[in-house]
Amino acid sequence: KVSLQSEIAGVKFDNLMLNAAGVRCSSIKDLNEILNSQAGGAVTKSATLEEREGNESPRMKSLPLGSINSMGLPNHGFDYYMAYVLKEQSEGRNNIIFSVAGLSIEDDLKMLKEIQSSNFNGLVELNLSCPNVKGKPQVGYDFEAVERVLTEAFKFFDKKLGLKLPPYFDLTQFDAMAEILNKFPIAYVNSINSIGNGLVIDPATETAVIKPKGGFGGIGGEYVKPTALANVRGFRLRLKPEIKMIGTGGIKSGMDVFEHVLCGADLVQIGTAFGPEGTPIFDRISQELEDIMEEKGYHSLDEFRGKLKTL
Ligand code: DOR
Repeated sequence: KVSLQSEIAGVKFDNLMLNAAGVRCSSIKDLNEILNSQAGGAVTKSATLEEREGNESPRMKSLPLGSINSMGLPNHGFDYYMAYVLKEQSEGRNNIIFSVAGLSIEDDLKMLKEIQSSNFNGLVELNLSCPNVKGKPQVGYDFEAVERVLTEAFKFFDKKLGLKLPPYFDLTQFDAMAEILNKFPIAYVNSINSIGNGLVIDPATETAVIKPKGGFGGIGGEYVKPTALANVRGFRLRLKPEIKMIGTGGIKSGMDVFEHVLCGADLVQIGTAFGPEGTPIFDRISQELEDIMEEKGYHSLDEFRGKLKTL
């Protein structure tokens, strides 16, 4: 029998697969469904300080090879998720990742301060990579801003902080970002958010397929898997070993998870494919991954994590 257990910063997960922030995780009902499934834990929809409606519809479209979205961070607001994670924690659950995405660095710091002064002691994921809030750049592409928010945050924050980053495309970006991240006691890096500001059009109607921002939106699914693997691998090779990796991007089969782990992922998150399939996906992919591991003679993820060979 093979084990799919994993761990980040002392937090144990029975299964390395979680939902990716954003997909089917906005309400308590959604989150409870994930927690009652084969998933190893749940990630909350990224919270902003105040509740948000998000962008105008249609704002998400499934595509043959993935998805495009410009949701614009619709969520119930920080207090809703804070109350939820605290309640679950009081009942003995520690496998919920609390995702937060401020509309400014000041908002990020305000939410981290509230978490710091609460009893919450699980993993917190600071989303520095939302591509869809009108007029707001992705912080993850502003390297000085990333260093600034981390410098300010770690003046008071001593809980377990992970970062959700956008995809990078040049190796000099991996070098520069890793050099910044290695200065801080970060628990993990989660790569990647959607590839921001793609454009999908319907040639029959000669129209963009989503409404916000003239049709520009974040791309997920099969389209992004090679970019996701490169980011997981690129950071694993550059980050200090205490910083763990979460691999997100293009996972819809056990083999996709296997590949993410080979590149160095400690946990993985599933977004686009979780949307239409729902929580049975965690069961299906776990079975597929177990079969692959058995066939290859692996009993645990440690036996192949990060061990990608190169030619
Ligand atoms: O693709 C994304 N969509 N990434 C995010 O971080 C936020 C989300 C949204 O709400 O627009």
